[in-house]
Amino acid sequence: MYYPWWYVPGLTAPMLIAVIAVVHVFVSHYAVGGGILIALENQFAIKTGDKPYREYWHQHARFFVLLTVAFGAITGVGIWWTIALASPLATEMLIRTFVFGWAIEWVFFIIEIVAAFIMYYFWTRLPEKTHVVIAWIYALAAWISLVLITGITAFMLDSRGLFANWSETGNFWHAFFNIQFLPQTVIRTGASILLAALYVFLHAAWTFRNVSMASDSGALFEKIVRRMSRPLIFGIVTVLIGVIWWFLLLSPSVLLIMERSVLLNVLLTIFFGLCGLMTLLIILGPMLNPRSINVGFAVCLFIFGLTALSSAEFIREAVRKPWIVDQTVLGNQIYGDEIAERQQSGFLRASYWQQLPTEKIRFGGMVFMYHCNNCHAVDHGLSAAGPLLYGESKEKIVEKLRTLNKPVVSMPPWSGTAEELDALAEFLLTVRPDKP
Ligand code: HEC
Repeated sequence: MYYPWWYVPGLTAPMLIAVIAVVHVFVSHYAVGGGILIALENQFAIKTGDKPYREYWHQHARFFVLLTVAFGAITGVGIWWTIALASPLATEMLIRTFVFGWAIEWVFFIIEIVAAFIMYYFWTRLPEKTHVVIAWIYALAAWISLVLITGITAFMLDSRGLFANWSETGNFWHAFFNIQFLPQTVIRTGASILLAALYVFLHAAWTFRNVSMASDSGALFEKIVRRMSRPLIFGIVTVLIGVIWWFLLLSPSVLLIMERSVLLNVLLTIFFGLCGLMTLLIILGPMLNPRSINVGFAVCLFIFGLTALSSAEFIREAVRKPWIVDQTVLGNQIYGDEIAERQQSGFLRASYWQQLPTEKIRFGGMVFMYHCNNCHAVDHGLSAAGPLLYGESKEKIVEKLRTLNKPVVSMPPWSGTAEELDALAEFLLTVRPDKP
């Protein structure tokens, strides 16, 4: 509220966070799972004295380091930029609660990057035993950063403590060990390994695309594919166990939101359907006919994996509405316990950043930007308010908005004065279509 508002036409600013965050998830989970697979397979190759197999993982590490370090860092910083602009109050609240969590995370992040570079550049130069240790340091540091971030993101969705009497907000430990922390750590660990195995399929299928399957290289390819089918199945099973655990812990209000939303039901079906389909394809392909895997198959499997993960992320994010930070910061950028005061003294406040417009429709437009634009585009785009109000009169709009959070449980209660509501309704009349 005391910050300027960031307007992203059509998409809305929070959805832009979602787009960047999903891309980041694709890479950051690979950074964790890939590290674990490289550490395991490198150790296995050394133990069995399989030089060509170890050389393949050296090649894979190049692709891995380039993608995760460069792209992971860019999208990770991108998330910070967008959340600070789109959800300043929630970002402030999270920083206040978790500042040491992030500090610890950045320490592990530095360990991760240094270990990744040593692992790749000194692959052939370090004694084998030392190299194994470095690869495991990378894997462990990457996994710990996953655990740290999971504590924070899980708290945003469900602030109930792991134990019933742990509800005090602002306490780092109570917030971090929230009720969804363990199942989400299981889900994300499984997803990391699943995704990493999919990247290996993709990389291996492309690297070996022109080799004869009867040659030595063909045999190496078969070995990679066979070995990677196990982490794939392990990843899917772990994700499913975590998802069921997560589901059992959901609060009644979240279950209500899920049951009422057609979109979320469709996404849930897509998620479980794709998990089943991937399991079937892995058994028929990599497990039973490893030599038949080609780039097309690997690309399909990869797209199925990304789609399943994106649907799960979308559901996880959608059910937290109307909260940005559960029970603390609302989707209209105020604290939950501020509503009554705002209804008395006004939702909008002049600040260093802005003067309040005197002209009524412009004032109403500003109310819309702060109170509604977190979830609704204006006239066109994501859940746009104009079309949602098609055919309504001004009186109807005012009446509807005053109590809309009752039928639409995902909406925050109206949090302003009668004059602000009146101005908002005037503004909405100007964006509402006259005819379909
Ligand atoms: C935290 C998110 C959020 C905020 C903030 C929010 N809404 Fe909503 N709103 C929803 C959701 C979710 C729905 C139901 C899904 C849909 O229809 O798109 C909804 C539905 C609606 C509907 C259709 C209701 C119906 O059934 O006729 C209108 C109109 C609406 N919102 C207007 C507003 C206005 C105006 C504001 C600002 C005062 C606002 N919303 C703020 C999330 C939000």
